Amino acid sequence: MPAYEIVDHTFDVVVVGAGGAGLRATLECALKGLKTACITKVFPTRSHTVAAQGGVAAALGNMGQDDWRWHMYDTVKGSDWLGDQDSIEYLCRHAPDAVYELEHFGMPFSRTEDGKIYQRAFGGMTSNYGQGIAQRTCAAADRTGHAMLHTLYGQCVKHEVNFFIEYFALDLIMEDGAVRGVMAWNLDDGKIHRFRAHRVILATGGYGRTFMSCTGAHTQTGDGNAMVLRAGLPLQDMEFVQFHPTGIFGAGVLITEGARGEGGYLTNGNGERFMERYAPNAKDLASRDVVSRAMTVEIREGRGVGPGKDHIHLHLSHLDPKILHERLPGISESARIFAGVDVTKEPIPVLPTVHYNMGGIPCAYTGEALTLRGGNPDTVVHGLMAVGEAACVSVHGANRLGSNSLIDLVVFGKAAGMQAAKELKGIGEHQDLPKNAGENAIARLDRYRNAKGGTPTSELRKAMQQAMQEDAAVFRTGESLNQGVKRVQEVYARRGDISVADRSLIWNTDLVETLEFDNLIQQALVTVTGAANRQESRGAHAREDYPNRDDETWMKHTLAWLDETSGKVTIDYRPVHTYTLTSDVEYIKPKARTY
Ligand code: FUM
Repeated sequence: MPAYEIVDHTFDVVVVGAGGAGLRATLECALKGLKTACITKVFPTRSHTVAAQGGVAAALGNMGQDDWRWHMYDTVKGSDWLGDQDSIEYLCRHAPDAVYELEHFGMPFSRTEDGKIYQRAFGGMTSNYGQGIAQRTCAAADRTGHAMLHTLYGQCVKHEVNFFIEYFALDLIMEDGAVRGVMAWNLDDGKIHRFRAHRVILATGGYGRTFMSCTGAHTQTGDGNAMVLRAGLPLQDMEFVQFHPTGIFGAGVLITEGARGEGGYLTNGNGERFMERYAPNAKDLASRDVVSRAMTVEIREGRGVGPGKDHIHLHLSHLDPKILHERLPGISESARIFAGVDVTKEPIPVLPTVHYNMGGIPCAYTGEALTLRGGNPDTVVHGLMAVGEAACVSVHGANRLGSNSLIDLVVFGKAAGMQAAKELKGIGEHQDLPKNAGENAIARLDRYRNAKGGTPTSELRKAMQQAMQEDAAVFRTGESLNQGVKRVQEVYARRGDISVADRSLIWNTDLVETLEFDNLIQQALVTVTGAANRQESRGAHAREDYPNRDDETWMKHTLAWLDETSGKVTIDYRPVHTYTLTSDVEYIKPKARTY
């Protein structure tokens, strides 16, 4: 192996990723006195959380009666009974305190007339166990993620966190099935860094970029998930990919669900408010899987908008311009830039667009990563934790409710920090790392850096994205998914012929994109294989050949392992947690979802 300069570090905790979850976990560790590092491939305030728009869910009751138990009920129902109810109880119970904490950290929430945090309606959020609509989503206009990320970054700086900014995490350091640290490449000076840590917390976000059209940043490549696969550990429920109903047609840019929360509505090519047919009660504020499917059916049946009848209209022009200016300034600007539309006068052309990954690294509500070992489906992977979209806790189950993501970030980010502090209390010196620690990561970097094949990374990435977009779409069939498996496997096999033109180690974006593609294709493989394997419809996974939810056979989490060399995916299962955390709430039994 060629010589690479390695810089060694030792920390109690290393957090990989500086989005909302990563920063909240980092902050908690720092507050608890742990020697903590946060590694991030982009400047913290450029992490994808910055793009979150509509808000953060918590039953504050500022706009009408609310109760965290109602929030819990909605989240279980939204998850289509794939969510773990102990984790969902934890999330909803702690949500109000988490939001007040953000407020006290200085987060600039929008306000009601009497100065309280403003809350808007969001899909699937109801009052009194589905009886009415709850205004539960706490908002900072339509730039809530931006406000949250800057607030948390400010707190981290205040508490003198050690940031390693523009460092690309390569792989976990493993020893005897436990995680001992992580390897990273400093993009700015080309040095390789080896981080030894008692705990590594992966907060690396989702992998929306496996698809052609997604609301996520181009950096959303799920690097931590792929590191977990390469470490021989499983990912969970990867087949559940959320399509957001309102991506701007053609551009994929997000138009917040908050637009419908403020009174916006959808129409088809006949000018009909079609959601009244699909969800007579919730209408345009049904959960995202329901709205995305309804839009797709309208288009497939020839009732789309435009010359190609290939999109849907979102109307906001009936709303008071003052409301649009105060509460939806960001999407008004996006609509102007990306669709050439003045929202005060014209509808926005929209289409369901990949938005969120419910699956990820299997975790407990404490943030501890789990695996199936020796028959125990809740075996803790020593040294590894995960938070945010990278994690599958699983509070979102088969379908996440809008605004439950931002609350997940801060509630479980804090929980992971607390758990790390509890476990590391009084822990002794670090053990020496194995002699070859990090060699695998360097070998992989070196292999791609010197790749001399004939196929540019962009060509392979496009082939993968097209296969996922076409074959693992809003509606799926065994035929489309099996074809998707074949197409993604073919792309996987072509990795051997990849070409990287730039051999340098300093700001080598060609190499970064290649490593990211390698991460994406591994996740694409487990996603499409898991989807072909699950023979039912549940939440965001809508199989036309298996249109019903099948609780008897399929109320279980998929675990998927990848053999990196062959690309073979192995599947097993974990039971869904059908119990709550405390006796304050009862297990919510499965029932058909109605809207
Ligand atoms: O529509 C939105 O503002 C997105 C929110 C979310 O995904 O939670």
